[in-house]
Amino acid sequence: MPSVPERVFAVLAEVTRRKLPPTRVFCEWGSGFGTATCLAALLGYKAYGLEIDAELVRRSRALARRLGIPVTILCTSFLPAGYAASAGVDGVALVVPESVRAHTDTAEARGPLRYAGMEIAITDIGLFFAYPWPEERELMLQLFEAVARARALLVMYHTDTDIRVWRKVAGEGELEDPHGHRP
Ligand SMILES: C[S@@+](CC[C@H](N)C(=O)[O-])C[C@H]1O[C@@H](n2cnc3c(N)ncnc32)[C@H](O)[C@@H]1O
Repeated sequence: MPSVPERVFAVLAEVTRRKLPPTRVFCEWGSGFGTATCLAALLGYKAYGLEIDAELVRRSRALARRLGIPVTILCTSFLPAGYAASAGVDGVALVVPESVRAHTDTAEARGPLRYAGMEIAITDIGLFFAYPWPEERELMLQLFEAVARARALLVMYHTDTDIRVWRKVAGEGELEDPHGHRP
């Protein structure tokens, strides 16, 4: 079942009005029909949707085209190359690539993390949106913590009446930002 567009718009508009996202680049993790991605584009973001289901990608691109809204929908997983999800007793956990975990590995050697087909780096994204299955909420938070730049926002839709906004803060376990952005 898709998220309710009016509810999503209210939250995206509010964080935008308050100038909370550090960049005007938006990414929807699991974009479905691409509604949130379109709403973000209407709010002035360079808007990307990542969707693994090819039929939904086709339909969301067609919808955006018909409405004349400029979005980029990529048929790919929201898990970047090397990242994976592992099913555990408490739900799904993020598996981080060994290269990221290694202390000796530097951001310079790694280069900026990107999604295939996306010209910008993940650290250019200022606002993420996700409506995960309940058992994947924790995975989304872990992914956000692992790949987002400092001060990025994650809007997570739990239910129509429970939409949460998270901000990435610098601190313990934070990845180095390849662009050197610091709060
Ligand atoms: C609950 S729906 C939410 C759709 C849309 N974001 C919304 O707000 O209506 C979750 C979406 O995530 C997609 N999805 C699930 N796993 C994914 C993955 N690893 N990468 C990209 N999309 C994924 C599903 O195909 C589905 O379209």
